[in-house]
Amino acid sequence: MDTLFFENPSAEEILRAGEMIKSGGLVAFPTETVYGLGANALDAEASAKIYAAKGRPSDNPLIIHLADPSDAEKYAFTTPEFQRLAERFMPGPLTVIMKKREIIPRTVTGGLDTVAVRVPSHPTANALIRAAGVPIAAPSANLSGKPSPTSAAHVVRDMFGRIDAIIGGSDAEIGVESTIVTLAGEVPCVLRPGFVTPEELREVLPEVEVSPAVTGRYEGVPLSPGMRYKHYSPRASVTILDGEYSHIAAFLADRPECGKLCFAGDAEILAMPNSREYGEKDDPSSQAHLLFSRLREFDDLPEITEIYARKPSSGGVGLAVLNRLIRAAGFNVKTL
Ligand code: TXA
Ligand code: MG
Repeated sequence: MDTLFFENPSAEEILRAGEMIKSGGLVAFPTETVYGLGANALDAEASAKIYAAKGRPSDNPLIIHLADPSDAEKYAFTTPEFQRLAERFMPGPLTVIMKKREIIPRTVTGGLDTVAVRVPSHPTANALIRAAGVPIAAPSANLSGKPSPTSAAHVVRDMFGRIDAIIGGSDAEIGVESTIVTLAGEVPCVLRPGFVTPEELREVLPEVEVSPAVTGRYEGVPLSPGMRYKHYSPRASVTILDGEYSHIAAFLADRPECGKLCFAGDAEILAMPNSREYGEKDDPSSQAHLLFSRLREFDDLPEITEIYARKPSSGGVGLAVLNRLIRAAGFNVKTL
């Protein structure tokens, strides 16, 4: 398939991309979290094409992206909790799950009777949704299982030739996908941590749980089907290293051939071969911003078959960083 690349999109090109979506095409676009792969969320066939382009299991539901939170009631049975969340966090990196209305096809929701709704703050995303005139179903624009794309180059690498168009832009500001909270159960529950933290959600809703699947291996039926699949994985295998810095540095010194992910100030490790920093130790937002692109950089080094990563702390946005890294590592944590 020929893929158009709108590297620095003009207003006209965004209108054209909106037309493509409306008429059943697939268009990748930047958001503040990661790049998305969009299709018309009201068109069951168009949404089904997303699964094929990503190589994604079709029971893993998609998030629908809206230009304005007031549109949500057309597609979901909104609640007072949703209104409070929308007022505080939308547009922005928060996705809310509610009971869906009939108009959203079940191919979009993986057969579930709920729908995930997000209002991205990125101006290109917003302009594209307005140009399409329909809600846009969009997963992250990576091949299934790969780290989510945080740059246009990542999207080109994974999706060129597989979709109708790619809209470029700068690197994703946040770097990890949106926080997902479900309002479909008894108590609001975070299914995927992101830039909006559980603490911040609790400032708006009296009670918010965090799913045990966020940092654990989940036994039983997951609330979010995406939690079942191996995720965010570079080609090499990943192991998280937990423990004192000096122990970690000594362990890595013996392994020049392995990839190493550490923090910006870790001078001793950074001086070793094949090492990269992913942000400041005490600044989880800087880690979120870099993690996926660093994991992808190791895919360009064919001799690397094993990557070791220093464990991030789990406070605030750190919970999202740890969640992604734990999945990239397939729950493989080594204590030193
Ligand atoms: O930041 C983001 O959310 C990005 C950008 C593009 O907006 N999108 C994104 O989509 O991360 P995706 O498809 O990669 O992840 C969506 C997650 C999946 O884990 C899926 O299982 C879950 O949301 N999900 C979607 N609808 C759901 C529903 N009705 N119930 C439970 N989980 C749902
Ligand atoms: Mg994804």
